[in-house]
Amino acid sequence: MRLILVGPPGAGKGTQAPKIKEKYGIAHLATGDMLRSQVARQTELGKEAKKIMDQGNLVSDEIVVGMIKDELLNNPECKNGFILDGFPRTVVQAEKLDALLAEMKLELNTVVELQVDDELLVRRITGRLVHPASGRSYHVEFNPPKVPMTDDVTGEPLVQRSDDNADALRKRLVNYHEQTAPVVDYYKGKNKWSPIAAAQAPEKVWEQIEAALKKVE
Ligand code: AP5
Ligand code: ZN
Repeated sequence: MRLILVGPPGAGKGTQAPKIKEKYGIAHLATGDMLRSQVARQTELGKEAKKIMDQGNLVSDEIVVGMIKDELLNNPECKNGFILDGFPRTVVQAEKLDALLAEMKLELNTVVELQVDDELLVRRITGRLVHPASGRSYHVEFNPPKVPMTDDVTGEPLVQRSDDNADALRKRLVNYHEQTAPVVDYYKGKNKWSPIAAAQAPEKVWEQIEAALKKVE
């Protein structure tokens, strides 16, 4: 199974991806998580990316395409397939991905679009808590950890992402509508589109994703 998971900030990409990963035994490649790992390790790339991410803007196509290419070519977990979470986010990234997959003689099964109206996203984003090392996310109200501020799996502390504030979120939403919505149209045109009504409880969203993926297995 090879799929793209696309949707605005807070749509639930990071919440649903681990379920898909577990069901199909495939890799979960999230460019946002990869960039945050560079920021945490204070690499040169991380220092540069942090400024851009904290403003809610997009990191250059060149950097993210390079990261994904490296994973697809070298990560053994990708052998069975992969979920691309947060990539491609521009039409240029989508075209570069197509070229790479063609070279590798691989085809995408589908593009799962998580559809949620902007108004709902503000609450989801401002209440989110994350476990930095794994990328697992929780919500103070909608998906609380068993122990407050603590990751269920490792017992390590949870934090708020530095781009989860009202200003950065506004910019992320504008960028989504301007730059990423055309990516959805791009794949609709290629007949690879599975829309999901994602303004529902996580279990309801998962049921729809499972059904949509069954059709394209
Ligand atoms: P990225 O990390 O990809 O952030 P994003 O796209 O803004 O998406 P989020 O991670 O905020 O949302 P999500 O859909 O994963 O939501 P989640 O499941 O956590 O990118 C961050 C930055 O990195 C970008 O702004 C950019 O600077 C850079 N970047 C990354 N990729 C790039 C690329 N390809 N090109 C250029 N730059 C790139 O859920 C959110 C909250 O809601 C959680 O608290 C969760 O518990 C809760 N929740 C989830 N589902 C539900 C539900 N059904 N009901 C109620 N609550 C729910
Ligand atoms: Zn995410």
